Amino acid sequence: MPVSILVVMVRCGFTACPRKSQFCLCSRGYATAFYYATSLHKKNFNGDDDMLMELIKHNGRPALFARGNCNFWDDEHTSKLLLEAHLNPDWDAASRRPATIDRTVDWIEEKFLGRDGAKILDLGCGPGLYAQRLAKKGYAVTGMDFSRRSIAYARERAAEEGLGIEYIYSNYLELDCEEAYDLVMLIYCDVGALTDSERDRLFPAVYRALKPGGTFIFDVLSDKCLAGVKEKRDWELLEKGFWAGEPHLALTESFVYQDDKVSLSQTLVVREEGRVDLHRIYTHYYNENELVGLLVKHGFDDAKTYAGLIEEDNFVGNRILFASGRK
Ligand SMILES: C[S@@+](CC[C@H](N)C(=O)[O-])C[C@H]1O[C@@H](n2cnc3c(N)ncnc32)[C@H](O)[C@@H]1O
Repeated sequence: MPVSILVVMVRCGFTACPRKSQFCLCSRGYATAFYYATSLHKKNFNGDDDMLMELIKHNGRPALFARGNCNFWDDEHTSKLLLEAHLNPDWDAASRRPATIDRTVDWIEEKFLGRDGAKILDLGCGPGLYAQRLAKKGYAVTGMDFSRRSIAYARERAAEEGLGIEYIYSNYLELDCEEAYDLVMLIYCDVGALTDSERDRLFPAVYRALKPGGTFIFDVLSDKCLAGVKEKRDWELLEKGFWAGEPHLALTESFVYQDDKVSLSQTLVVREEGRVDLHRIYTHYYNENELVGLLVKHGFDDAKTYAGLIEEDNFVGNRILFASGRK
């Protein structure tokens, strides 16, 4: 899943425009987009206008790993669509399908757990699909996510089912605890969505959070996917869509940083009142050796990779690599 939103939308398997209205206009070339945008809000498109200058500023290849200015996971509108996607059993969008999650949880248990009461931290837990399953198997689970909506849903479900799962609304890049967990997991290619410096901040924090002998598990997109990623540009003028629940113009562009094995899906969202949101979703593709090297670099022992675990996932399942390392 790219849900890397294109990544999420792509990694999450969304189309660029999940809910096109009849007024949706798609074409290549930003010039035409600007023409239509003037009818969105004329006063904001004068040549010397701040908003236009903001758009022009982003016309070109961004420096690798330069970040955007907003978090779609926690956006009031987009998080609603994402939660629907997480919970759709027929769609490998924000979460994998139930049968795949069942198999992954069984694999995690057989390979890395097997002791009732072991403490698990699920980073980027979303609505708790893995956490619920693991709690039902008798593990003490904490889920952490910075989507308010997903955490609220996960807490409700846990309460309904009488599961004592702890859910924390927090940015996992701020993770700060010592020797607390037997297993830390980060599932659905989120390591690949981090910049290298974020990743190199997270891995030591995960290491610290693990008890001695504890395991870190994550998955990424294999670098075999990179050949299929093309640079392109598109735009849409919508009454409402994935990025906003109000009229907006979405300018989407993808970039490939071949030497770094990274792709970027960038979307500029322009609203009627002139606000410009800049979404940047990176996907860093890895091979087995790089994953092992990364784990070793951060002090993990017994670094291993696993291919072919996700078979029928419609988000390039056979190109997913899992990795594990032990403290
Ligand atoms: C692709 S979804 C996967 C959700 C879940 N792991 C699953 O597979 O069902 C990524 C999740 O990570 C969360 N997330 C992304 N970056 C995060 C961060 N820095 N801190 C906390 N949560 C984050 C998002 O809000 C989202 O719920």
